[in-house]
Amino acid sequence: MKIFLDTANVEHIREANSWGVVDGVTTNPTLIAREGRNFEEVVREICEIVDGPISAEVVSEDAEGMVKEARELSKIHKNVVIKIPMTPEGLKATRTLKDEDIKTNVTLVFSSNQVLLAAKAGATFVSPFIGRLDDQGQVGMEVIRETVTILETYDFDTQVIVASVRHPIHVLESALAGAHIATVPFDVLKKMARHSLTDVGIRKFLEDYKKIPK
Ligand code: G3P
Repeated sequence: MKIFLDTANVEHIREANSWGVVDGVTTNPTLIAREGRNFEEVVREICEIVDGPISAEVVSEDAEGMVKEARELSKIHKNVVIKIPMTPEGLKATRTLKDEDIKTNVTLVFSSNQVLLAAKAGATFVSPFIGRLDDQGQVGMEVIRETVTILETYDFDTQVIVASVRHPIHVLESALAGAHIATVPFDVLKKMARHSLTDVGIRKFLEDYKKIPK
């Protein structure tokens, strides 16, 4: 399973990328605003750090405006993927961008029917937000399991990015469900890497190593 980092914080991206486990990055207007920097500048810097798909989101709500923004954003770097919201206008924009060979990530997806339509419209990636579904008392991972079945059954090229990931179990369940990608906040990635028994084991090994006669 591929792991994308879900942040616009370039220091976190640089650190996580150095671990050798990051395959791409996803951003959205909230994550970009959190950094207090110019949008295009941040996206460009992220593209220079991670050699993989870098999602940048449009803010227009009509297809024409989305496509216009997408054409500009795609000029930033060859790896830029355009995040498009899952609406009828977003589907129109996705189809147009597919015909122009501009990669898309259809986002703010909350149902398997939305996944099906995004895939039919030619989305490169589709992003169901499982954490927000969980927050509503639904089982977000159920949408992921249905998504994997739909994409595999009909041999869609579209890849699912599990988004709105809140903890390591979301990532584990995504992998077990056969998801192509999970986009993971840096804090969650750090939790995935650590285990208290590993820390205890290292301390014990180092204490015992010191007892070895020199
Ligand atoms: O990639 C989408 C993600 O950033 C949304 O996460 O926690 O705001 O639902 P969250």
